[in-house]
Amino acid sequence: MKSGIMKAKVMFKEISYSSVSENFIDLVAKQWMLITAGANGSSNCMTASWGGFGYLWNAPVAYIFIRPQRYTYSFVDSNPFFTLSFFDRKYRDILTFCGTKSGRDFDKIKETGLKPYITSRGNVIYEQAKLAMECKKIYFSDIDPDMFLDSLIRRNYPESDYHRMYIGKIVAFYQKNP
Ligand SMILES: Cc1cc2nc3c(=O)[nH]c(=O)nc-3n(C[C@H](O)[C@H](O)[C@H](O)COP(=O)(O)O)c2cc1C
Repeated sequence: MKSGIMKAKVMFKEISYSSVSENFIDLVAKQWMLITAGANGSSNCMTASWGGFGYLWNAPVAYIFIRPQRYTYSFVDSNPFFTLSFFDRKYRDILTFCGTKSGRDFDKIKETGLKPYITSRGNVIYEQAKLAMECKKIYFSDIDPDMFLDSLIRRNYPESDYHRMYIGKIVAFYQKNP
C-alpha cells in the first residue's frame, strides 16, 4: 500500500541569473523590492525602488541605497547578508506599508501578513515573493555630495541624509515554484 504521507512542496527553486526572465530595471523601478536583513524573529524590511544589478569583481552583484534614518539601516549594517524580495502587483499594499511605516513603530510581519521563508543560510525572504535574491555584503560607501557631477542630484537630499550604498554579491536567486 502506498504511504499517505505527502511530501512537502518545495516553495522556491534556486535558479541561475541567466534564467531570470524579468527586466532588472523594471523590477526595481516599477515593481519595487523589499530589502530585509537579520535573522527570523529579529529581522526588519523596507521597500526600495532605487538600486541595481550587475557584474563586478567576477560576481553577480546587487547594489542598494539606504538612508541613515531607516530602521533597516542598522540591520543591514550589522548583518553579513541582506535579501531582496520581489512581488506580484497584488501585493502592492504590503510594499506601500513597508515603505511608509517604520519597523521602529510596527511589526511589519504581523501588520502585513508577510510570511517569512528562511533560506538555508538563515536569511529571510517571503512566501509571497515571486523572486528573491540573497546577497552577501562585500562593499559599502556613503554618498559624498562633493562627488556629484550633476547638481540636480542634490534635490534628492534636502535634509543631507545621504544614502549608504551597499554592494552585495548575489549568492542565490530563488524563483517561486508554480
Ligand atoms: C516606492 C518606495 C521606494 C523607496 N525606496 C527607498 C530606497 O531606495 N532607499 C531608502 O532609504 N528608502 C526608500 N524608501 C523609504 C523607506 O522604505 C521607508 O522610509 C520605510 O518606512 C523605512 O522603514 P524602516 O524604518 O523600517 O527601515 C522607499 C519607499 C517607497 C514607498
